[in-house]
Amino acid sequence: MNDRDSFGSQFGALVAMAGSAIGLGNMWRFPYLVGTNGGAAFIIIYIVLIIFITLPIFFSEYLVGRISKANTFRAFKKLAPSSHWGIVGILAAISPFLILSFYCVVGGWSLYYLLKAVTLQLESPSADYSAMFTNFVSGKYEPLLFLFLYLFLNGWVVTSGIKNGIEKFSKIIMPLLIIMVMFIAIWSMTLPGAGAGLKFLFYPDFSKVTPHTFLAAIGQSFFSLSLGCGTMLTYASYIKEKSYVVPTCIYTATADTLFAILAGMAIMPAVFAYGISPSQGPGLVFVTLPYIFSHMPLGTLFATLFFFSIFLAAITSSISILEVPVTFILEEFKIKRKTAVKICLSVITVTGILCSLSEGLLKNIHIFGKDLFDLFDFSSSNIFMTTTALLTVIFVGWKMKKGTVTNALSNNGKRKINPIYVTGVYYTIKYIAPVIVAVIMIRGLF
Ligand code: PHE
Repeated sequence: MNDRDSFGSQFGALVAMAGSAIGLGNMWRFPYLVGTNGGAAFIIIYIVLIIFITLPIFFSEYLVGRISKANTFRAFKKLAPSSHWGIVGILAAISPFLILSFYCVVGGWSLYYLLKAVTLQLESPSADYSAMFTNFVSGKYEPLLFLFLYLFLNGWVVTSGIKNGIEKFSKIIMPLLIIMVMFIAIWSMTLPGAGAGLKFLFYPDFSKVTPHTFLAAIGQSFFSLSLGCGTMLTYASYIKEKSYVVPTCIYTATADTLFAILAGMAIMPAVFAYGISPSQGPGLVFVTLPYIFSHMPLGTLFATLFFFSIFLAAITSSISILEVPVTFILEEFKIKRKTAVKICLSVITVTGILCSLSEGLLKNIHIFGKDLFDLFDFSSSNIFMTTTALLTVIFVGWKMKKGTVTNALSNNGKRKINPIYVTGVYYTIKYIAPVIVAVIMIRGLF
């Protein structure tokens, strides 16, 4: 393929990468993890671990994509011809199907709640929001309808390509998302009693720090930076040669972390102001927060902004996940992008339906003690993504030549980067990262 698509500008690529990183993980998990793991103490640990461990892993994925300029499979094949390393690329192209199966179901839920907010259905303070949520997600038709709508929107963006689809879309959506969440944060922090929420987030309590805290921080940073499923590799493969590797990854990680903290400042003060104990995940987003919105002045406005934000954060991540198998299929089978998108979405529609119905109709189907939704979630995060990340760092550290890696890090010397830093990164990739990823993997499995 000579006329391979690419990002139009370095800034556009950066925004798309930040869009991938900023997602549900930042909105519904990070704030809770911070609050329950020592507040500012956790934030400090999180940042230090990103700098020393997660970024080198990020560089590894990025390098493989950038040097090869190919899909996940071809990337490993190109860099290590006549070897079996291409399998890593295949693994990387499978995880997106697993992740999207449940991620898109949640994306559909966010659309549904957005519609509910706009149509003034989240206004009643006496409503039972927990029952409302359970009734909705266990339904046979409504959640599927919103899942299809969500999938369609993903397909629409990805079909338009990298420059005209993903990049353009992210450039419009990301500033909007940031402004909306900032606005919610300002309002949330000015509510009476909001201080307790800020204390929950920021009061440094080192007594809550345990070995578990470190693993939780690394695991979160990993998911949050979209590592281990070929996303960053694929995006990097579309980035023009002149863009610098190290700064691009650092900016993405910085934007992602700042946004996660901002999301915490938007959510936790409001939760505490209403005297509710903090939680995470769907319970926080679809039960606790609607309850809070219904009790406050201008609740509908904030509910609308909030669910719109959740939806936008989710879709800029899910398009990045979808792009992985789309690039793989369109390049390997030499078909049109549109056809590749259709093939991927057909598969995800089926697995997505299964995930959605596992909240109701298929509730009793359990595999390895998990319903289908949890099974897809568990196997992608704890098996596929960790395995791919582990093999990627082993590949970069042990299979690629040291010179190739260090040259790529400094863009063949065009970017002045302290050689000590480059060497440190290289040895982290070679010796430390594999051990850390293996530990996360083992812990995730047992
Ligand atoms: N980083 C996204 C989030 O925080 C999720 C994601 C994982 C996106 C893997 C792409 C790849 O929600």
